[in-house]
Amino acid sequence: MNLRNILVGVKSIGAYAPKNILTNKDFESMVDTTDEWITRRTGIKQRHIADNEEFTSDLAYNAGKIALERAGLEAKDLDAIIVATLSPDYFAMPSTACVVAKKLGVSDIMAFDISAACTGFIYLLEVARGLILSGKKNILIIGAEKISSILDYSDRSTCVLFGDGAGAAVVSVVEKNPIIDIHTASNGEYEDYLYTKRGKDFNNPIGLKLEMRGNEVFKVAVNTLANDVEDILKKNNIKPNDIDLFIPHQANLRIIKHVQEKLGFSDSQCALCVDKYGNTSAASIPMAMNDMYEQGRLKNGSLILLDAFGGGFTWGSALLYFDGK
Ligand code: UT7
Repeated sequence: MNLRNILVGVKSIGAYAPKNILTNKDFESMVDTTDEWITRRTGIKQRHIADNEEFTSDLAYNAGKIALERAGLEAKDLDAIIVATLSPDYFAMPSTACVVAKKLGVSDIMAFDISAACTGFIYLLEVARGLILSGKKNILIIGAEKISSILDYSDRSTCVLFGDGAGAAVVSVVEKNPIIDIHTASNGEYEDYLYTKRGKDFNNPIGLKLEMRGNEVFKVAVNTLANDVEDILKKNNIKPNDIDLFIPHQANLRIIKHVQEKLGFSDSQCALCVDKYGNTSAASIPMAMNDMYEQGRLKNGSLILLDAFGGGFTWGSALLYFDGK
């Protein structure tokens, strides 16, 4: 096979949200906040929260199984499993991907995690495409987060924003509907804008706490995302009107609306589920893709534009046809 001539695409999508729901109203008795403030400043109404005994690998496994089934594959058909997460089962090792491989019943394939915060799924697409172009056939990529495990539920400025969940996709050689282009980037100058702090002052199971300078992150995110989307469209000579679905990272409705208005996307072109899930970091884009798929809006051949921004800072966009059935 001449690897230069093959097309790489997304064969399926799947997602899983834990069953427990924490509403904005619930937060009113936990911290000094209101449903009105959270809704107005973020667009979030509720988020799903995993049980104590439910780990990131469990969420990832559930999403991965659905993506495999929808691709018509079994775990033994996979050449690699890659998980993007900032809330892994273990600190440093083993990777969450290794635990997912065990749960799926495969033991002899490449499995590893990547750390790119909320841009994780775009980075996964780029890494998986590279692996396919180097000769592998089927890669399961999963964005999965149990962010509730690294949140301080007495800090109203972060705890209301995030939720748990997982989204997965199978990336394979395809005959039509390929990935057209992916752009991934980072700037470590902003490392202390959004990070996880380690310390004995914070008493959670893995001793980590998410910290964010929200308003400063907001300003950089808004401009970076709008420019990134404009650039990838221009580079590929595609007009906003040509896009069937714009599926951005679901962090804040105001950020999404800014990019939507700047590019001129209509409401029917935009995927929105920040109200249901909150910010699920690496899981956010595949969970939104799955919502669109289950609503019948993401179909075989749909031209989609993905866009994300997160801690690091990292950011990226992807332009692709969806090849799922
Ligand atoms: O996913 C990775 C990227 N992350 C993002 O893109 C998130 C970007 N940031 C944001 O979405 C927004 O900045 C937030 C939603 C985090 C905050 O909204 P904001 O409009 O930027 O508010 P702010 O941080 O400037 O705070 C405004 C006020 C402050 O009070 P004072 O100082 O004006 O008296 C905060 O203390 O709102 C207060 N505040 C709250 N009030 C009620 C902060 N959190 C809350 C809260 N409830 N939960």
